[in-house]
Amino acid sequence: MSFCFNFDISAQTNLPAEVSGDNSKSEEKEGDQKYAEVEDKSSAGPVKEAKEHLPPLDPQFLLTDAVFETVTIGTLPPLHFLNETIFERTASEREDVEKILSCREEKNSDLISGVYEGGLKVWECTYDILELMEKEGETFRGKAVLDLGCGAGLLGILALKRGARMVLFQDYNSTVIEQLTVPNVFLNCQEDDEVESDGEKKGKGKGKKQDEDGCAEKGKDDSNANSPPPKKRVTDLSKHSLLEKCHFYSGDWRTFLPLVLKRKPQPKFDIIFTSETIYNTCYYPALHETLHQLLAPGGLVYLATKSHYFGVGGGLHLFETFVEQRGVFSLNHLWDGAEGLQRHVVVLQFKKPKDL
Ligand SMILES: C[S@@+](CC[C@H](N)C(=O)[O-])C[C@H]1O[C@@H](n2cnc3c(N)ncnc32)[C@H](O)[C@@H]1O
Repeated sequence: MSFCFNFDISAQTNLPAEVSGDNSKSEEKEGDQKYAEVEDKSSAGPVKEAKEHLPPLDPQFLLTDAVFETVTIGTLPPLHFLNETIFERTASEREDVEKILSCREEKNSDLISGVYEGGLKVWECTYDILELMEKEGETFRGKAVLDLGCGAGLLGILALKRGARMVLFQDYNSTVIEQLTVPNVFLNCQEDDEVESDGEKKGKGKGKKQDEDGCAEKGKDDSNANSPPPKKRVTDLSKHSLLEKCHFYSGDWRTFLPLVLKRKPQPKFDIIFTSETIYNTCYYPALHETLHQLLAPGGLVYLATKSHYFGVGGGLHLFETFVEQRGVFSLNHLWDGAEGLQRHVVVLQFKKPKDL
């Protein structure tokens, strides 16, 4: 089954009752039925096998002629990532065992459920978490961080650059991890003084730009039409100290969780980031279990999401109800977009004994 949508909620004016915050009893019942259905679906059908990806010993080739963008928000370190448009243009030359690049192009879709889960582009809620991290002054020093459903990996990269002790990147698709997340981590391992500054848009708050037109990638690409985005110089990265702190996994959460739990010592994360991952209610049981098993006592899950994902059905209200029913986490809103934005950042933490 494929969905042809880009999570654009701006066209919708009337939210369905289930996401409008109206908790009437009958709607709660309807919600319960949905979850019963969700559990059935999640245990059926083929499951994408998880695997660990070791960064290549000679990563230079990943960055040869790489064309990248930089997001700079406040005092956060600049975060570099491969330019999506150029990435797409060179797609046919890339190794893509999963064939998601061609599939995505063919179906003209940002998400093909169970095949490609959207990791090839940076979704706007990622910028909301970055803005929040800037506001909260989170240092990450000495912390273990999981970027769950990482895509380009900007949140994990921020933690890495800010002194996290360990960062684990997970994405559904191995192509995303190998062709995008790993190269992005390499890009950021290079010293900033190696960045050719010509044409680079330092100081640009990309999240804000997205708020304005909802389509920052295209807007920015147009404005760059006459000045090609900058390229990275290639240096020996294979022994970079930041890389030793990173682990990369692909696969479905249902197989990722048992695989990652086999690590010795078993990992627990002080911070889990997960941005734009609650669009499909079928995935809630596996997502919740992953958070439950991998969050350290006292740890925090920062979850960023749109209110509702039209065309797929998930959204914050349904996820909040699900979390409440499970009774494991408390959930608090940290940021709710001003009227019209309908985006949110929430934090989950284990319920304290007095809350149980
Ligand atoms: C819309 S993308 C968001 C990517 C990135 N977090 C961002 O904000 O730019 C959703 C991500 O969730 C992950 N994901 C969704 N469903 C998943 C599942 N069932 N198992 C594992 N990962 C899943 C995929 O890795 C995918 O990249």
